[in-house]
Amino acid sequence: MHMTDKTDLKKRESRAIFQTYGRQDLLLVRGRKARVWDSEGKEYLDFVAGIAVNNVGHCHPTVVEAVKNQAERLIHTSNLYYTENQVLLAEELKGLTGMDRAYFCNSGAESVEAAIKLVRRATGKSKIVAAERAFHGRTLGALCATYKSAYREPFRPLLEATFAPYNDIEALKTATTPDIGAVILEPVQGEAGVYVPDVEFLRAAREICDDRDALLIFDEVQTGFGRTGRWFGKEHSGVMPDIMTLAKAMAGGLPIGAMLAAGPAAEAFVKGDHGSTFAGGPLICAAALATIRVIRDESLVERSEEMGAYLKSQLKKLEPQDIRGLGLMVGVDLSCDCKTLVEKALQKGVLINSTGEHTIRLIPPLVVGKDDIDKVVSVIAESL
Ligand SMILES: Cc1ncc(COP(=O)(O)O)c(C=O)c1O
Repeated sequence: MHMTDKTDLKKRESRAIFQTYGRQDLLLVRGRKARVWDSEGKEYLDFVAGIAVNNVGHCHPTVVEAVKNQAERLIHTSNLYYTENQVLLAEELKGLTGMDRAYFCNSGAESVEAAIKLVRRATGKSKIVAAERAFHGRTLGALCATYKSAYREPFRPLLEATFAPYNDIEALKTATTPDIGAVILEPVQGEAGVYVPDVEFLRAAREICDDRDALLIFDEVQTGFGRTGRWFGKEHSGVMPDIMTLAKAMAGGLPIGAMLAAGPAAEAFVKGDHGSTFAGGPLICAAALATIRVIRDESLVERSEEMGAYLKSQLKKLEPQDIRGLGLMVGVDLSCDCKTLVEKALQKGVLINSTGEHTIRLIPPLVVGKDDIDKVVSVIAESL
């Protein structure tokens, strides 16, 4: 087998690729279930899962098979024509979420872009309210709702957004003035370090939006498809948003996004309002249909809840300052330098991710078992 030389590849990468990513010193070549292997054959337990993407595990055979079969029949045609998989997937998503219509796109940020445009069409208003610490993507539209100033400041001017502290009902009420077209919230804040709001906050957000004629957007890009121990994060509060944004885990690791809407918002776009060449193509939709089938057949939503509870119970052994999360979306505050911790764990064959100086985030494939969790917790303990 041809072995890629990592040192050489890193040099070539630095000359050939924009240096926008801070990468770990790791060249990955293969994955299966909750494990990946590097160019020298070393195995890693993957508790990052491609940033909450590989919910069904790496290279799930059902997804691989569906992609192979569809690739031999039809890969791409554009949205100038009808394709069946796109309709099947939209119907599947409607059934899972209770929303009325889907618009397909290719990433999480694109789904937020589509939501922002839909708000203008549906309400005629352009201002939105987002939460402090929120992450909604890096494209220029989505960036207006992303909180971190390092991401925003170099790229002003941006669309207008007001930020209110997450989980603060009074602050959200004050920020949502009559000129606000939408409030956008993550049902659990992911990139921020996994913050779970009170259900009362999300219920109040619904009431505030209704009261001010604003739409409520739930960004479920990270919380979707079983991650939180429910199919979607919104189920923990029972709140129905007007718009949902989805991406990440939907197609088993292949790039896809969707913006769903319910009620009058689902009627607001007219022909020509939005579009994308690749969106909802037959290949990606085949992958998504297979992924949803796997999540259902293997009871991965229930497994996420069960394993998430076990993970949180085991993490207590680390005596952390805080453990937060729902299902297999878990944030842990530790007093150590978490960047160093991530590197040490990598040396010991475990991939984890830090969202801040003192916070790690654990978002493994939903197929993990208790033995995997035990290993990760003991590696973290040794690395502290
Ligand atoms: C809640 C949320 N929204 C949007 C995005 C952006 O998605 P993408 O990176 O696919 O553009 C992310 C990515 O982490 C996210 O967590």
